[in-house]
Amino acid sequence: MGDVERTEFEIPGGIPPRRTGRDPETSVDANVQPDDVEAEVTLRPRSLDEFIGQPKVRNQLSLVLTGAKRRGVVPDHVLLSGPPGLGKTTMAMIIAQELGTSLRMTSGPALERAGDLAAMLSNLMEGDVLFIDEIHRIARPAEEMLYMAMEDFRIDVIVGKGPGATSIPLEIPPFTLVGATTRSGMLTGPLRDRFGFTAQMEFYDVDDLTRVVKRTAKILEVGIDADAAVEIASRSRGTPRIANRLLRRVRDFAEVHADGHITLGAANAALIVFDVDELGLDRLDRAVLDALIRGHGGGPVGVNTLAVAVGEEPATVEEVCEPYLVRAGMIARTGRGRVATASAWRHLGLEPPEGTIGDY
Ligand SMILES: Nc1ncnc2c1ncn2[C@@H]1O[C@H](COP(=O)(O)OP(=O)(O)OP(=O)(O)O)[C@@H](O)[C@H]1O
Ligand SMILES: [Mg+2]
Repeated sequence: MGDVERTEFEIPGGIPPRRTGRDPETSVDANVQPDDVEAEVTLRPRSLDEFIGQPKVRNQLSLVLTGAKRRGVVPDHVLLSGPPGLGKTTMAMIIAQELGTSLRMTSGPALERAGDLAAMLSNLMEGDVLFIDEIHRIARPAEEMLYMAMEDFRIDVIVGKGPGATSIPLEIPPFTLVGATTRSGMLTGPLRDRFGFTAQMEFYDVDDLTRVVKRTAKILEVGIDADAAVEIASRSRGTPRIANRLLRRVRDFAEVHADGHITLGAANAALIVFDVDELGLDRLDRAVLDALIRGHGGGPVGVNTLAVAVGEEPATVEEVCEPYLVRAGMIARTGRGRVATASAWRHLGLEPPEGTIGDY
């Protein structure tokens, strides 16, 4: 050992070089990944009181639910909108829980034909919550049937084909539709208008995410220092799903390299291994910034061009990367495309050219 200065933890092979593109093993993007699935079931808060953050949404929702319960009617349909991993599915489950009813789950892509939706609707019990995830991806015929169901609790089922087809009206028991979308802009006007209440989920601040990290650590029975919880929270892109995932990765690290207790040193060392930078940006985020700045002089660039440059679907860049990069003040959306701000240039270690947005 001798006189060599040592950091608290040694990283086998040294600090890994920053790579671009996405590696599913370590990616911290906000979409669900295989190892989240089981963990999320145990980590989901089960009541409005247990749900951390989103004070505005919680407050409004609590009024909507309490009001309906007092009047003895089913609550208005609710649309939950916001980037991935902020708690939309969790909130839908909580709504059913608070109402004391059951939750039926489906998703836009699963409702390809009107018949798929008709089957779902005709199986509902009075007061049930029907949750349609990714509701912006619902096929048009199903969407039209949904209009009627939402408004009149009635649908027309078409029986037969061609000139002999007849439509049979079918009553649906009153229910509450909860729709979730990462792309509220893609919802058609008529569908959006039929929701009585729209909740816009926002990115979480560091305080709230710190509470998420501490709560999860408690459930997972892992010890964590307060400053380590803050560190993980501040690198979680404002997203509870990522906070929980980073905590699990840091726990792995602390188990392998120490006694399992999470200190600030362990958190920092682990976050380097998993390629999460000081702002919580992952490889894909940095690849987007890199394509925008090094590839296109800072923009403006269309989202499709950026997506091709980083080898991702435009939808992923738009729904997963952009919202946080915009909120972090790294990119701006303009009429002619995406533009890098001065902070983005500096984040890549470059001096922004004169006239860059956000320059000082
Ligand atoms: N307010 C919160 N408090 C504590 N944990 C939360 C909160 N919101 C979300 N989580 C955690 O984050 C995970 C992801 O949340 P959820 O699945 O509800 O996100 P989502 O918005 O539905 O994402 P997607 O758009 O990908 O479907 C949950 O398993 C839960 O553990
Ligand atoms: Mg969800």
